[in-house]
Amino acid sequence: MKNKMLKKFAPVAAILVLFLSLLAFQHSTLLVEEKVEGAARPILIQGPMPIEAEKFAQRLEKVKVEKSGTFVFYKGKLNNYPVIVAKTGKGMENTAAATALAIEKYKPIAIINQGTSGGHDPSLHVFDIVLGKRTTNIGSLKTGNIAQDQGMDPTIWKPMDLMASEGSGSDPNAEKVRYYEGDKDLLAAANAVKDKYTKGKVVEGTIGSADVWNNEVDRIKWFHTNYGTSVEEMEGAAAAQIADAYDVAFLGIRVLSNNKTNGGTYNPNTASANQDYVYEVVKKYIATLQNK
Ligand code: 5AD
Repeated sequence: MKNKMLKKFAPVAAILVLFLSLLAFQHSTLLVEEKVEGAARPILIQGPMPIEAEKFAQRLEKVKVEKSGTFVFYKGKLNNYPVIVAKTGKGMENTAAATALAIEKYKPIAIINQGTSGGHDPSLHVFDIVLGKRTTNIGSLKTGNIAQDQGMDPTIWKPMDLMASEGSGSDPNAEKVRYYEGDKDLLAAANAVKDKYTKGKVVEGTIGSADVWNNEVDRIKWFHTNYGTSVEEMEGAAAAQIADAYDVAFLGIRVLSNNKTNGGTYNPNTASANQDYVYEVVKKYIATLQNK
């Protein structure tokens, strides 16, 4: 009798045990995920060239290096807070890809894109630093309608906002400059420590980006007048656009390594000076996060 009962209920019991263990497994993985979600979200510091990223990376504690494609991520701690330095490589494409990848992988709370730049404003000198109150793409342009053998005229090129619509390039609403605003908490942290930087002045301004190095002073002036650019470089607007797409706080911080408008010749030492300053900004920003 007993045996009969056992035989009858054994499969039911086995299924029940299997079901309960599945539930327990699901519960334990959920707990692990919650822990990951509960950890502090890192601050991401981007630098395009080795001289623009490695100095900062060396100052982190407990660094682990992760690579993906040509991108290198130095994951470490600063004042016990997670900070990741990303060596993105130069240019808009590398930067956009490295930014999207880092957002998906590391879920940063904020992104600082930093490095060297060329002056558009004659009142700024080599070693001065521009905080990107705004960042804009200065390589997204539409030329005039000029027939064969009538030449080329860059002075009539119009800005083209690729994020204005999902339609074609002939959309007249797209003929405007799109600015990405610097995050106000990051800007506040940067302004709060500007006296710690002694190699030049620190000002708020507009950062213009494109895969172009402009050496024609009239063209530089054209951007300065029409876009209000303080400096140009090749990465900030790409990072700002992707940070905006994912709603992540963003700020560009750029030191002038050259300024064609006032004879400022290229000085590569500016890259490490900028990282020293950005280090102070990050410490200040961490302090404000920890007091929240
Ligand atoms: N124009 C464009 N990019 C510049 N860079 C420094 N100065 C300039 C300039 N005048 C930076 C870019 C890129 C590398 C070539 O140097 O951001 O990373």
